[in-house]
Amino acid sequence: MPYVNEQSLNITPADRMNDLPTQFFAQLVKKCNARIAEGHDVINLGQGNPDLPTPPHIVASMQAAAANPQYHKYSPFTGYRFLKEAIAHRYKEDYNVDLDPDSEVAILFGGKTGLVELSQILLNPGDVCLVPDPGYPDYWSGVVLSGAEMVMMPLTEANHYLPKYEELKEEELRRAKLMFLNYPNNPTAATADSSFYEKTVQFAREHQIVVASDFAYGAIGFDGNRPISFLETPGAKEVGVEFYTLSKTYNMAGWRVAFALGNKEIIRYINLLQDHMYVSLFGAVQEAAAQALTGPQDSVHALCATYESRRKAMFEALQRIGWQARISQGSFFAWLPVPRPYTSTEFADLLLEKANVVVAPGIGFGTYGEGYVRVGLLAEEARLVEAIERIGALHLF
Ligand SMILES: Cc1ncc(COP(=O)(O)O)c(C=O)c1O
Repeated sequence: MPYVNEQSLNITPADRMNDLPTQFFAQLVKKCNARIAEGHDVINLGQGNPDLPTPPHIVASMQAAAANPQYHKYSPFTGYRFLKEAIAHRYKEDYNVDLDPDSEVAILFGGKTGLVELSQILLNPGDVCLVPDPGYPDYWSGVVLSGAEMVMMPLTEANHYLPKYEELKEEELRRAKLMFLNYPNNPTAATADSSFYEKTVQFAREHQIVVASDFAYGAIGFDGNRPISFLETPGAKEVGVEFYTLSKTYNMAGWRVAFALGNKEIIRYINLLQDHMYVSLFGAVQEAAAQALTGPQDSVHALCATYESRRKAMFEALQRIGWQARISQGSFFAWLPVPRPYTSTEFADLLLEKANVVVAPGIGFGTYGEGYVRVGLLAEEARLVEAIERIGALHLF
């Protein structure tokens, strides 16, 4: 009888696994689900998951394409050219930016993947990455996996939630190799203007820092102000890349389609890394994504109008209960100050327990997020208003 050791292996992960930041929002989901399981009518405005479906013409395109045997094979490694042409077409139409589909476009499995990949291709241990605080936590994940160091760039209301480059230290700037920016911004709902991006290109050139512009909410701007793309800035392609996702623009978060666009060298490295990790997305998803980008854009305008009207309803309700806040300029979030004497986590817990409303505590986005909660405009207007009225009934303002 061969000896069989039935004792299981002692699995110890690599150090980088232990270094990963804790998934703050997993905790939030847990608390919310526990409350629902107790039978409460919970209004969940804590997450960033679009609540509306993908437009039907995109779904129909996917349904038809799924039957095409060509797509049942492996896709080309870096994806189909027609999809790269489609995003180049959209950027030309919307931003008057010229992109070469072959050398200036990489197809990604969602923006999140690309953001994490970028740190892997650029950063070594000892390098510095400049990260907005508060900011989207997936930037941290990529930087930590690369072994590099994060230096936070505070975003404050006084600075219109734009980083102040002049406040960064010389020693940090010497080691800085990469910087993440994100406008329209998650979580603060701020937008950036062309003069900020011009300053950014100059700063990046001066200090040899690659700029990663995360344009996930590029389609969502209010009051007639269309958010501008970083790539519209003269010189932008020489210093960086932009990440564009279909998740928010077309309510396609589950489809996992996004792009890195811009600097040829960076695009080449992203494609190289991906050659070692994946074969590109399912061909039918690529065809439907191309349909989304080249077909009618009415759904995008309608979606933006929906968020704008939800924003109006919610800010009017906030006004009625005496909750003063800066109105959102873009994205589908609102960034609301926490009343004294609570921390953002205490306040979020209180709202869940006493009002059955879920909001995201600002501290989950970084130290400078403390003192705020993030609320998603991701429910029907009546539900949004009800959430604010429930909070109003607690008489905290
Ligand atoms: C700021 C920001 N960037 C990037 C993403 C990534 O989106 P996806 O991975 O769905 O493309 C999100 C999603 O919530 C986001 O909020």
